[in-house]
Amino acid sequence: MNSKQENPDQWKLPLYKIYSDDEDLNLITKIIKRGTKWAIGPEIEEFENEIKNYVGTDYCITLNSGTSALHALFLAYGIGKEDEVIIPSFSFISTANSVLFVDAIPKFSDIEEITFGLDPQLIEKNINSKTKAIVPMDYGGLSCKIFDIKKIASDNNIILIEDAAEALGSSIKGKKVGSVSDSSIFSFCGNKVLTTGEGGAAVTNSREIYEKLKLIRSHGRVDRTSYFDNPDEPTYEMLGFNWRMSTITATLGLSQIRKLDKLIQMRKENAKYISSQISKFSQISVPNVPDGHDHIYQMYTIRLENKKIRDNLHQYLTTKKIFSKLYFSPIHRTSFYQQKFKTDENSLPITNKISDQVLTLPMYPNMTREEKTYLVESISEFFENQSSY
Ligand SMILES: Cc1ncc(COP(=O)(O)O)c(C=O)c1O
Repeated sequence: MNSKQENPDQWKLPLYKIYSDDEDLNLITKIIKRGTKWAIGPEIEEFENEIKNYVGTDYCITLNSGTSALHALFLAYGIGKEDEVIIPSFSFISTANSVLFVDAIPKFSDIEEITFGLDPQLIEKNINSKTKAIVPMDYGGLSCKIFDIKKIASDNNIILIEDAAEALGSSIKGKKVGSVSDSSIFSFCGNKVLTTGEGGAAVTNSREIYEKLKLIRSHGRVDRTSYFDNPDEPTYEMLGFNWRMSTITATLGLSQIRKLDKLIQMRKENAKYISSQISKFSQISVPNVPDGHDHIYQMYTIRLENKKIRDNLHQYLTTKKIFSKLYFSPIHRTSFYQQKFKTDENSLPITNKISDQVLTLPMYPNMTREEKTYLVESISEFFENQSSY
């Protein structure tokens, strides 16, 4: 594996590019010029309303990151010491770290090969009397088998919290991702389809969870009116954090969510073109879109026949100044989790197999025809000269 550090400015094709326009600038400029309410401004609630209407849930609360949203949800559901939480190891490390933040125990369950999400058939084997929650993850903009997972959660009376960090805008059987589980989170980090640089949100239909999340987000404070508009001392009911999103961030989110469907459409068209050009190589599997699923291509991830070809292609693309990346190396294999839990490698065969075969390629809305052609031609070159790599 090539671990050589590259200067991102030298990449001909970065992994992602942010889409921004004058509308973003104009809206933010307005807030800056307003000179007030840069914290706890009305745009935060406006952004939350847009998200909940878009996803189709009763409540939404924004936070400063997707990780805070997950952490806050675990606190709101009272998940804590000795509780077990079933999660995939094939995810971003935040999914597992958030479980540890509340002193609970992450139980890694294997994934299936269609969506790369938790395998519903294996979840039940990991359920015991300590299991408090299941946290499936939607990989790269494609829903996991959430309806099957939901059935297992409700049959066993277990909380279902969906890590939909990568899948805002995607849907399954006509339902938006994030609207099926008890509660779900999204991330607005720089590489997401809707980005505000950093940021996150939790959505739910539970008023009780929503009210708790508001307290957790803001020092346990009961804000009947906005803190900076109220000259009286508020009450503080519980221990909480400052995990609020800034008004400027929420304003950017408002501007971005209004063009979300357009950005998704642009990604879909790019993905369609790239897939049509590279699917002829038998060693490549292009992204899967199972029946009833919608893929928003937060990531465009191909699967190679084996690790050797994957690693060689990864290296070759680096020489062509094309940024590709391995999403994900399993969490249980990171040194921290290995030391802490010593997970049996044999317990996660599909996770290990898939993480050895995947390669995420550049994908962003305004990819030019030249950029796509360069990507496709570079991949073709690799396969045509494969014996020399
Ligand atoms: C699957 C998954 N979960 C959680 C997160 C955490 O989101 P954030 O980076 O906003 O804290 C991410 C984001 O990168 C993610 O991809």
